[in-house]
Amino acid sequence: MDPPPAAIRWRTTAVPFLVAVLVLTTISPSRAIYCDEDDCYDLLGVSQSANASEIKKAYYKLSLKHHPDKNPDPESRKLFVKIANAYEILKDEATREQYDYAIAHPEEVFYNTARYYKAYYGHKTDTRAVLVGLLLILSGFQYLNQSSRYKQAVAMVKKTPAYKNKLRALELERSGGITNKKRIPKNMDKKMEEDLSKELDLQITGTERPSVWKLVGVRFVLLPYTLGKLLLWSGCWFWRYRVKKYPYSWEDASYLTQRSLGIPHDRWATIDEATKEDLVLRRLWEKSNMERYVTEMRKESKRRR
Ligand SMILES: *[C@@H]1O[C@H](CO)[C@@H](O)[C@H](O)[C@H]1NC(C)=O
Ligand SMILES: *[C@@H]1O[C@H](CO)[C@@H](O)[C@H](O)[C@H]1NC(C)=O
Repeated sequence: MDPPPAAIRWRTTAVPFLVAVLVLTTISPSRAIYCDEDDCYDLLGVSQSANASEIKKAYYKLSLKHHPDKNPDPESRKLFVKIANAYEILKDEATREQYDYAIAHPEEVFYNTARYYKAYYGHKTDTRAVLVGLLLILSGFQYLNQSSRYKQAVAMVKKTPAYKNKLRALELERSGGITNKKRIPKNMDKKMEEDLSKELDLQITGTERPSVWKLVGVRFVLLPYTLGKLLLWSGCWFWRYRVKKYPYSWEDASYLTQRSLGIPHDRWATIDEATKEDLVLRRLWEKSNMERYVTEMRKESKRRR
């Protein structure tokens, strides 16, 4: 399989990356969250090694100079607010330390942002709001990542001969065999598009369609529901199969088979019905059956060689 052409690679990886950088620099730039684009120390005119009393002195001097009562100039008023903010950050030993850390480690954006929110808004606004903000940012990244990976996988599958053949076969089927075999149709109707997208999903393994249900934020919100469902499900399972000793339903037997073979759910869906049925009927969740199956498979592969 060839890698996707440079144009696709650029669109699928660089664009989400640039968007991410933009989002980061506007929502949560690690050190800019403290004194916007300024350096807190520069605002107060002190060095980073200044001690607490020097900072205090510098602040009083500047705040007197730029106080709105003394200095009606709007620029000066803005500066006054900035200076007060910078002092607010530097006078507290803990937040000053965090700010220094953010200067020294600009790459640890998430960590710095989380610390900042915790220190500044943690006590003022609801911690829950902060959590929601962080979850939203994380979910946004996750969605971008998911969809770019999916697009990449689709681009790869569309280049495989198997997919191209299927496309031709579908077109032939639709037109009753009149089409030129070599031509790949440009305009497709709805039904065919649907078939094709199903076909694509079958061939893409390991990468799923982007889905909001998978995002950390959504999962977190649904956690109580998910846990409740899981609890109910385990309770039912226990009651039915342990207490009442009913035979496994087909669905549950399929589940046990997938689990004992270690096949993820999306892979299982791509296996043909006859194979699935054969596997389920073998009752592989019982140890002796599994051992027999493994031995059989070994023999089979030796025979093929
Ligand atoms: C802070 O630094 C100034 C000047 O370097 C010095 O005079 C002062 O004693 C220091 N204060 C403290 C509390 O260390
Ligand atoms: C998406 O996340 C995975 C790790 O979960 C990473 O390996 C991959 O490079 C990311 N892709 C993009 C386009 O950011």
